[in-house]
Amino acid sequence: MPGHKGSPLLGPEVLDITEIKGADYLFEAEGIIRQSEDLAAEIYGAGRTLFSTEGSSLSIKGMLACVRACLGPDAKIAAGRNCHRAFINGCILLGIDPVWIWPETHSDSICASHITPSDVEAVLKNSSVKAVYITSPDYLGNMADVSRIAEVCHRHGALLLVDNAHGAYLKFAGEGLHPLDCGADICCDSAHKTLPALTGASLLHISRSAPAGLADCAKAEMSLFASTSPSYVIIQSTERSISELSNGLAERIRSFCKEVSSSRERISLAGFTTVGDEPMKITVAPMSAGYTGNDLADELRKRGIEPEYSDSAYTVLMPSPYNKDGDLDKVIKAFEDIPRRYAVKDELPRLIRPERAMGLREAYFSGSERIPVDKAAGRICSRTALSCQPSVPVIAGGEVFDEKIIKILKSYSIFEADVVK
Ligand SMILES: Cc1ncc(COP(=O)(O)O)c(C=O)c1O
Repeated sequence: MPGHKGSPLLGPEVLDITEIKGADYLFEAEGIIRQSEDLAAEIYGAGRTLFSTEGSSLSIKGMLACVRACLGPDAKIAAGRNCHRAFINGCILLGIDPVWIWPETHSDSICASHITPSDVEAVLKNSSVKAVYITSPDYLGNMADVSRIAEVCHRHGALLLVDNAHGAYLKFAGEGLHPLDCGADICCDSAHKTLPALTGASLLHISRSAPAGLADCAKAEMSLFASTSPSYVIIQSTERSISELSNGLAERIRSFCKEVSSSRERISLAGFTTVGDEPMKITVAPMSAGYTGNDLADELRKRGIEPEYSDSAYTVLMPSPYNKDGDLDKVIKAFEDIPRRYAVKDELPRLIRPERAMGLREAYFSGSERIPVDKAAGRICSRTALSCQPSVPVIAGGEVFDEKIIKILKSYSIFEADVVK
């Protein structure tokens, strides 16, 4: 194996080896893969870093399994409700029923990360929660106050787990931005989202101050959900991205973030509101300039710019130091060219708390049928209903549909729902 024997049908076949002698084994890494993981740990200041070739989707499941193995099956995990579907899938597989943390303060989008230290304090004060899971940065480029949340968690004897899928570059963008530097015990970074790594490359970091058990069981727990044939192309790509970091990329990220910041200022001067505090993202809230997020995305496409994400209220761009020279200028020019119009008004979908009838896993395996979402009121969700991107749950398995939820789902063009039979 592999059957292509290195023939360049697509191009990368020559790098696509398997576990031949000397190539090391991802899930029992003792040779060159372990050396690369250790180099990544050193660069990130982690106690242990593990590679995933199946994205943060695998790292998140591995992270949950590690915490489960260390804390035992009865320890409760609280999670910010703006989590990615990988977290929900991990919970279903592991039989975890999370205690949801609902933002106390106004949240202006389903995918916004407005979980605050006091939201976390409130959950920890009155419960036996032993681990807290948050998503930061979120899809819209909002960063949670991870340092203060870590302080709250540790004061209550709970671990802090962070989905930092969007923030692999944060370590190099400025001081104290990466979750490990803010006190997180364990976090995942999608190297493929913001570093020059192939799709599928992710890092699972365990902090130097985390309980030793987490690092000890991490490989075994990752392998529980992973393919036994990890992609060596992705491993090599991860390794290459890490070595780029020590060869000037870290400095390029820092200066590129300054360029992104001044591009945001120019976009604001052109009359478009920018939001979010993540240094390498550009999130525009264009309603005041007369566009929905989706309309603005179309305007940008007409000018040769492909946004990462858009919905009714926001358009998100994710540039990186690997953009071509002049790309940020092209973005600024596009915003200067797009005519401002009268403000549009639209009711934004907000996170609401559905009533809960059963657990995530029980609902998933209870037997399911697909029905038109218009007929779902009063029925129990079996498979978590999401907007396809950014995969944040509007209603989770075991929760009950009502008219408000149905309206939100339709606003995300979800017209069918899976319900318990
Ligand atoms: C917040 C968040 N977490 C996790 C993931 C999953 O990451 P990956 O695509 O690396 O599996 C994504 C993917 O978009 C995401 O946006």
